[in-house]
Amino acid sequence: MSVSTPAQQPVGKRKILATCALPYANGSIHLGHLLEHIQTDIWVRFQRMRGHETYFVCADDTHGTPIMLKAQELGVTPEEMIAGVREEHMADFAGFHISFDNYHSTHSKENEAFSHEIYNKLHAAGHIKVKTISQLYDPEKGMFLPDRFVKGTCPKCKSEDENGDSCDNCGATYSPTDVINPRSVVSGAEPVLRDSEHYFFDLPAFEEMLQDWTRSGSLQEEMANKLAEWFDSGLQQWDISRDAPYFGFEIPNAPGKYFYVWLDAPIGYMGSFKNLCDKKNIDFDAFWNKDSDAELYHFIGKDIIYFHSLFWPAMLEGAGYRKPTSVYAHGFVTVNGAKMSKSKGTFIKGRTYLDHLNPEYLRYYYAAKLTSRIDDLDLNLEDFAQRVNSDLVGKVVNIASRCASFITKRFDGMLSTNVDDQALADEVMNAGDSIAQHYENRDFGRAMREIMALADKVNEYIAVKEPWQLIKDETKQQEVQDICSLGINMFRTLMIYLKPVLPVLAESTEAFLNDELLWEGHKTLLTDHKINKFKALMQRVDMDKINAMTEASVESLASTKKAEKVVTGPLADDPISPEIQFDDFAKIDLRIAKIVKAEHVEKADKLLRLELALDSDENGETRQVFAGIKSAYQPEDLIGKLTVMVANLAPRKMRFGMSEGMVLAAGPGGKDLWILNPEEGAQPGMRVK
Ligand code: MSP
Ligand code: ZN
Repeated sequence: MSVSTPAQQPVGKRKILATCALPYANGSIHLGHLLEHIQTDIWVRFQRMRGHETYFVCADDTHGTPIMLKAQELGVTPEEMIAGVREEHMADFAGFHISFDNYHSTHSKENEAFSHEIYNKLHAAGHIKVKTISQLYDPEKGMFLPDRFVKGTCPKCKSEDENGDSCDNCGATYSPTDVINPRSVVSGAEPVLRDSEHYFFDLPAFEEMLQDWTRSGSLQEEMANKLAEWFDSGLQQWDISRDAPYFGFEIPNAPGKYFYVWLDAPIGYMGSFKNLCDKKNIDFDAFWNKDSDAELYHFIGKDIIYFHSLFWPAMLEGAGYRKPTSVYAHGFVTVNGAKMSKSKGTFIKGRTYLDHLNPEYLRYYYAAKLTSRIDDLDLNLEDFAQRVNSDLVGKVVNIASRCASFITKRFDGMLSTNVDDQALADEVMNAGDSIAQHYENRDFGRAMREIMALADKVNEYIAVKEPWQLIKDETKQQEVQDICSLGINMFRTLMIYLKPVLPVLAESTEAFLNDELLWEGHKTLLTDHKINKFKALMQRVDMDKINAMTEASVESLASTKKAEKVVTGPLADDPISPEIQFDDFAKIDLRIAKIVKAEHVEKADKLLRLELALDSDENGETRQVFAGIKSAYQPEDLIGKLTVMVANLAPRKMRFGMSEGMVLAAGPGGKDLWILNPEEGAQPGMRVK
């Protein structure tokens, strides 16, 4: 598809707002997320270098059932959990030099205000419909169950323990109401069908507008094709409400009804920008009004195109706002040719990467492989090391290290006033426009190839001239200064081109050259200019560090695997527990407790009722705890034993009564489940730490 991109339009100062998809607040940032953030960051840094008024905002996506349940599992409020995760996410992004102007949260007053306003406008315009639907409900937990919270036997192949909406064994997809022997993942209870009123957004009413938008915007070809398919199969009403309990924003005039997380998530782009505008005195309306001349771009992954290319523009249109200039989707990161895998150590968290490797290696590698298309991108770890070493260390930095010492030692750090090879200088300087066009089009791989081809030419020039031979000849000193000065200048021009990708290397280069690297500077040379002493600018990638990184990634799974087995509560199936800080751990009050009573619970297949003494004194405090250990113990065998309990767990109402704590047990389950049984000498009430 050929579209005129803004770079081909008459040059003027553009107003640009770019966003990345908002990461969920219940998991760590990994190298897949980072493809998107690095892609957007490079593009945004390029636009800033070109002098455009550019803003880059993001936020954590904090609402929804998984986040609510995760917080419950951790025994904290959702607000506490999302605040902690946001800090972690921001630190990870800072580690990769992602230059957000603002990183907000969807659980914010700005987002709530916009969500209400947009909903009210859609409602007033008749775009919200109410329908009663029937859905699976967990009677024990008292909540409706999203599909992924139902498990059971596949109606087609009869494989057990399959997902509520699809079978991993035979690949069938089905409705959760068709699952045989369905169970709630949350409580283990058998779900029942229950009716409830839901609110729907009338997407089909926007079909014509969306068709126009698809044709007029500069959408990627693959996205336009995908949209055409969706139009062909017909647009559906979109269910935007969820019943309490839910962590999110309540729907105006609909008590007990909440906005589905995907309604307020994209509005979070506006919320984050508004928060920035208020801090920095920026005109919000100039970016979001219907007649705005600002450009708005959303960078997203291929899995969330539907939300961004159909729901979101329709919501904006229906509420009287401008629509995105474009939505740019990228593919998924694979590692060593396969989906990121925890057991192979290729599910690599941003933090684990940063513990071992320089973030600019990854920025460069992603840049070198990125196109404007939606293809997946393979991070092959050997190719990664080889590419970074050969391109950045072997080609670009090498130019500076070959030339710098002569200039410093023999010419007092002064660059020559002569240009030794004007044709070479012109070629490197003139490439700026084409490289800029590649950046603009998000064809970063082409930009990198062009830059590296120029670096090859400069290295060839130096190799042919052999300044290290000439320097031995007293009559050739001027020539050496001229050659090395051109080498240093070419290094400078290449670093101007690379600055959006390598901001830290660019900063060290600026210190070395005594010069700020500005885009316009690619048209000029530094002559009669003093530079500083050269220090090594970048280390080679060390394969041992890559191996250490993947080993550390495997380990973090081994530990979650183990952790999974000691939890006997309802969330034992959840394989990904987020890493916690020492402070989180310190909050857990572990105590030795004596089991003074143990008995069967009528109608419960897994639970025993325990009475635990927290005190050696027989009149001391006791707690009632329901523990899922019936498969392994007879109640009478437990009486008199010591165990370790979590003493400060918030009491939970269960079907059989209050549970006022939790006992720790370990093992794969079934008969092999052991109550942690402290050594002799332990006394009830002792702290375990
Ligand atoms: N919270 C939603 C987005 C709401 S935007 C209004 C979400 N969050 S996410 O954490 O699952 O993903 C955030 C972004 O990371 C998405 O664009 C997603 O496509 C991208 N990626 C997640 N895993 C990825 C890879 N393995 N590879 C590349 N991008 C990946 O979706
Ligand atoms: Zn099946």
